[in-house]
Parts: sequence; structure tokens; C-alpha cells
Amino acid sequence: MSSYDVVVIGGGPGGYNAAIRAGQLGLKVACVEGRATLGGTCLNVGCMPSKALLHASELYEAASGGEFATLGIEVKPQLNLAQMMKQKGDSVTALTKGIEFLFRKHKAEWIKGWGRIDGPGKVVVTAADGTEQILQAKDIVIATGSEPSPLPGVEIDNRRILDSTSALSLPEVPKHLVVIGAGVIGLELGSVWRRLGSQVTVVEFLDRICPGLDAETAKTLQRSLSKQGMHFKLGSKVTSAKPSTSGVTLSIEPAAGGQAETLEADYVLVAIGRRPYTQGLGLETVGLATDKRGMLANERHRSGAPGVWVIGDVTSGLMLAHKAEDEAIVCIEQIAGKAGEVNYNLIPSVIYTKPEVASVGKSEEQLKVEGRAYKVGKFPFTANSRAKINHETEGFAKVIADERTDEVLGVHLIGPSVSEMIGEYCVAMEFSASAEDIALTCHPHPTRSEALRQAAMDVHGEAMQS
Ligand code: FAD
Ligand code: NAI
Repeated sequence: MSSYDVVVIGGGPGGYNAAIRAGQLGLKVACVEGRATLGGTCLNVGCMPSKALLHASELYEAASGGEFATLGIEVKPQLNLAQMMKQKGDSVTALTKGIEFLFRKHKAEWIKGWGRIDGPGKVVVTAADGTEQILQAKDIVIATGSEPSPLPGVEIDNRRILDSTSALSLPEVPKHLVVIGAGVIGLELGSVWRRLGSQVTVVEFLDRICPGLDAETAKTLQRSLSKQGMHFKLGSKVTSAKPSTSGVTLSIEPAAGGQAETLEADYVLVAIGRRPYTQGLGLETVGLATDKRGMLANERHRSGAPGVWVIGDVTSGLMLAHKAEDEAIVCIEQIAGKAGEVNYNLIPSVIYTKPEVASVGKSEEQLKVEGRAYKVGKFPFTANSRAKINHETEGFAKVIADERTDEVLGVHLIGPSVSEMIGEYCVAMEFSASAEDIALTCHPHPTRSEALRQAAMDVHGEAMQS
């Protein structure tokens, strides 16, 4: 039996960051991961492969759809899907190997196999060959992540009816792809396949896309994606999907009930959310149970059982890699006797479509519910010089500030490269910046970031360039 200060179960962004931080702080740490590679959902079948395909497909469309021609670059691109998938796989392998390197560097041990808690302070690991190993731990961190939520009546076969993992590795470009769920996965992977030539129909239960996102921003995104050729069926539910060798027949009804219609597709992607993953984890041996959704509760990362902590997708909050990473750091620092706190109001969200969407803090809708008086400043990318010379003028920057104190409460960006710009506001808001602070801060010219400053100026009606 091996003894550790900390045993982390799960090697995703929650688990691997926890193991690295524990190693850095001098704790004896092991990370149990059953997958063949470290990195979890994010590196293997989530953030990274999806961004690899989004990047490649965006360039393919720019080259084939007229954008390059506008710039005076005449090319006739030809899709090599096998190479596109290969470069995605190569990048993923390099990244997962990178985590192995970081483990060695920070003295975190990777125990290969599936972990199961077996009473207080004990984790049993079953390796691929069936052999078992017992680990003793002062503290156990559960970071087992999440899996796609199933949809009754639409059974994933990973052949014609796909989850996000199989939709990242299709062997051909679908003629007609039906996406169920107009959330982040649906819009990102729908964009990939549309750019590569698919007709894409997105069926969404609600009467809007991206619930939770600032409504004005969501509307602008939907308008833009529709213009690109993505077709939306809002307020609709899929009641059944029957696969055949060549495609899928779907039955769709209005969400509120009514006349059913039939839709033919050659592939269907189910992307209606994810649910926490705790299968076979032995929670009962330490008196823990999940709620109805399968989620493990936490109080500042402590589960209800002494010495058992919980972080990332398996617990409450946004299911995002950087949220899992933040929780990992704070959780381990608490185990090491240090202080720490995750600021859940400042976890940014990004949708990597074109245009990109990036937001942090409160939406107008949330502030209305809270009854908090606010002012809004907006600046369109049509008036931003860098966006204009690059022919990327869709979207806007929107800053919401407290009416009385001028403190920035929320920022919603839609436009070119906004994923790289939202961090500015995360830092500013962490320091409780006012809109005036941003407006008085010099930004480099010509950059898209100037739109962020102009939007802050507009909070006081003083935008200078629109
Ligand atoms: P996971 O990454 O799910 O890792 C959990 C790990 O635990 C897994 O590797 C699993 O094999 C392992 N495990 C489970 N049970 C056991 C056990 N009993 N023993 C041993 N190992 C176990 N987030 C972003 O922030 N940005 C994005 O761009 C983004 N894109 C995404 C795209 C897609 C298609 C998907 C599906 C998700 C995306 N996400 C994105 C979400 C992100 O992947 C997750 O929020 C993040 O991976 C959660 O990290 P985690 O460590 O909590 O769990
Ligand atoms: P999601 O929660 O983002 O969206 C699911 C959508 O499906 C919602 O619009 C919902 O109303 C709809 N829906 C639910 N049931 C339905 C039904 N029966 N029929 C039709 N529509 C239905 O979930 P998604 O897209 O599966 O992504 C899961 C999570 O993964 C995200 O919440 C996010 O946390 C993470 N993710 C993050 C990314 C990023 O940061 N860029 C990229 C991809 C995933």
C-alpha cells in the first residue's frame, strides 16, 4: 500500500492542476486517471480538439468563401479531411504529453487506472489489466468531470447519432447535420461542419439560443450564424430519431406540443448539456451521495465527508476548464493550510464561433432580476479601425456599469478575436474597476481592444469614435 498526502481522482483540468499545485507545494501527490492519456475531457475530446477544428475550418472557409479573394488572394482550396483530423490528433497528443512532463517536473505521480473510494482515506485503483492497487491518502480530491447528457428517444450510436466526441472525428463531411441543442457545443461543432460544407439545422427547445448568455448578444450571434447559412428551429423538440445505414429520420414537434414533422439527416449531433460523472466511485463508502442530477455538492470545495474534496464539472457551477482549474488551485491551497477563494462572478465564458462571443460578470437580464440600477455603454466593431481594415466588422463591445458607483458589473463582447480580449476586463473587474478607469486607460492603436475602451467611454455618453 502506498501513502500520499493527496490522492486526486481524475486527470482533467481540475485533477491535473490540483496534482501540479500539490506537487509545487511539497505535498506527496498521486493523480489517478483511467484514460490512456492525461488531460481529461478538455484536452482529449473537448476544448482542444474542437478548437483545432474550428481554427482549421475557419481558414478553409476564408479561403473558399470569398474572404481571401476580397484581400486579393486567389486560391482554390481543396479539403483534406484526413489531414485536418491528423493535425488535430497530433496537437492533442503533444498537449497530453505536456501534462505528463509537468507531472514529472512537479513530482506528481500518475497512477494509471480507475479509482474507487473504499472508506475514509483509501482509494482502490483498478488498472487496465485488472490488477488492483491500494492508495492511502490524508486527503482525496474528486475531479471525475462530466459526460454528455442523454436524450430519451434519441440513442447515441456514435455512427449516425453522435455525441460531441464522435462529432469531432467524423470520417466524412455530412450532407445534412441536425444538431439538437443550440448551446456552446452545438454552435461550435455545427460551425465546423457547416464551414466544411454541411447543411446544418439546429433544433433548440427554448425560443432563443445560448440560454444564460446576454440576450442582445445571443440574438446578434444567431443573426450572424443564420446569415452564414446555419438554419435554426427554435421552440422545437426532437421526440424520436431512427437511424438507418445511410441516415437518420427525426420526428420534431413544437416544444409546447402540436403538429409533428419529419426531418431527414445523414448525421445527428446530440448536444443538450453535460452531467456530472461519478460512476463506480464508491461514494457510499464515505457516506456521500449525489443529487438527482448526479452532482456532488460542495462547501468551499469540501464534500460532506471529512478529507474528501470535490472540484470541476462533477460539482456545481459552470462546466468550464478554467473554472475547474481555479477550483483546483484554491482546493489544494486549503489542503495545504493556505487561504483562497474562487470568485465565481468573474469566470469568463467564450463561444469560439465566428464571430466569437466572450462575456464576464452579469447580463442585463440578471441585473434586472436583482433590481440593480445600471448603465450600458456599447461600441460597434464597424467603427473600429483594425476590424475595418481586416474586413471583420461584425459585432460590438458592451459594458454594463453600476449606475451609482460606475463599477463594471458585466462585459459582453461579440466580434473578432474577443476571446483574447475578455481577460482585460477579468483583471479590471477583479480590481473593482469603474468604467471610467477603463476609459482613461491607454489602449494600443490600431487594435480591436480599442473598442473595449470606447464602450467604457460610452457608459458616460463619451465614446469618441462612433
Ligand atoms: P474532465 O476534463 O471531464 O476530467 C475528468 C477525468 O476524470 C477524465 O479524464 C476521466 O477519464 C477521469 N475519471 C473519471 N472517473 C474516474 C475514476 N473513477 N478513476 C480515474 N479517472 C476517472 N471548456 C472550456 O473552458 N473551454 C472550451 O473551449 C471548452 N470546449 C469544450 C468542448 C467540448 C466538445 C466539450 C465536451 C467540453 C468543452 N469544455 C470547454 C468543457 C471542459 O472540457 C470541461 O469543463 C473540463 O474538462 C472539466 O474539467 P474536469 O477536470 O472537471 O473534468
Ligand atoms: P449547453 O448547456 O451549452 O446547451 C444545451 C442546449 O440544449 C441549451 O440551449 C438547451 O436549452 C438545449 N436543450 C436541452 N434539452 C433539449 C432538448 N431536449 N431538445 C432541444 N434542445 C435542448 O450544453 P452543451 O452545448 O451540450 O455543452 C455542455 C457544456 O460544455 C457547456 O455548458 C459548457 O459548459 C461546456 N462547453 C464549453 C465550451 C466553451 O467554453 N467554448 C465549448 C463546448 C462545451
